[in-house]
Amino acid sequence: MDNVVITGSARGLGLAMAKEFRKNSYSVVLSDINEKNLEQAKSELESLPGSGKVLAFRCDVTDLNDLEALWQKSAQELGEIDLWINNAGVNQPMVPLWELKKEEIELLINIDLKGAMFGSKVAISHMKDQGHGQVYCIEGFGADNATQLGLTAYGSAKKGVQYMVTGLAKELEKTNTPVQVGRLNPGIMITDFITHPLGKDGTMELSDSTKKVYNILGDKPDVVAEFLVKGMIRNVSAKKQNDYVAWLTKRKAMWRFMTAAFNKRNFFEE
Ligand SMILES: NC(=O)c1ccc[n+]([C@@H]2O[C@H](COP(=O)([O-])OP(=O)(O)OC[C@H]3O[C@@H](n4cnc5c(N)ncnc54)[C@H](O)[C@@H]3O)[C@@H](O)[C@H]2O)c1
Repeated sequence: MDNVVITGSARGLGLAMAKEFRKNSYSVVLSDINEKNLEQAKSELESLPGSGKVLAFRCDVTDLNDLEALWQKSAQELGEIDLWINNAGVNQPMVPLWELKKEEIELLINIDLKGAMFGSKVAISHMKDQGHGQVYCIEGFGADNATQLGLTAYGSAKKGVQYMVTGLAKELEKTNTPVQVGRLNPGIMITDFITHPLGKDGTMELSDSTKKVYNILGDKPDVVAEFLVKGMIRNVSAKKQNDYVAWLTKRKAMWRFMTAAFNKRNFFEE
């Protein structure tokens, strides 16, 4: 039986991946800063068929001590941790960088970049001792060098995450450390993330042109999660270093645009 820990998994992609892992008989550790959603997510996961354990621990990924406690509590219950996914992330308000408040920039970088860095540090140092394990991080807009008004801070963080994983892969290889790292590219998903900048309650109105692009390129998180989890499970035995599991490839995006006239999806009027 394999065990997985997923940060920021009380909703959205994290929860959708947790459900897929449960379907595949994994024991799953949910964790999130939002305790109310975390409890609901745990009940939801437990109600699904699956032979593994379901655990849930509060963890703020900006706090190294929280992440260390998440590893300790998970390992205490499950023994070894085979997979650790740095999934927690927030979007930014759609304004140019100079209009963001100092606290908003700090929060975004602390969660999206520093959180993934702290999570990788904690997981790799323990996986090194247990002799195996894999750590995945989530890429996003900016990792492919794309630029857009209103996404500069977020894109900088995700570009940083991409660099960090690639650098880590080299470090693990050069030091013969038996741990692999990888990146997940989920494309565009219709989750609370796109309308709740910085994870706050206030909803961000999307322009009609943005909604149009989301209807063409976007997907529900469960569809994306099924694909990403299959890729990660494949790599548990393949053990490829710097594994890259990409849902929305350039080819798929081009196809979606070419067939957009026949696309009847409307996520915003469901
Ligand atoms: N939705 C998209 O279109 C999209 C596209 C590309 C990449 N991503 C990335 O996918 C990941 C998941 O996004 P999502 O769409 O499921 O978002 P979401 O907002 O639905 O879920 C994110 C979760 O992270 C949690 N979280 C926020 N701050 C935290 C902290 N400090 N510590 C622990 N947990 C915290 C939230 O409470 C929430 O449960 C993120 O890394 C995001 O950047 C999303």
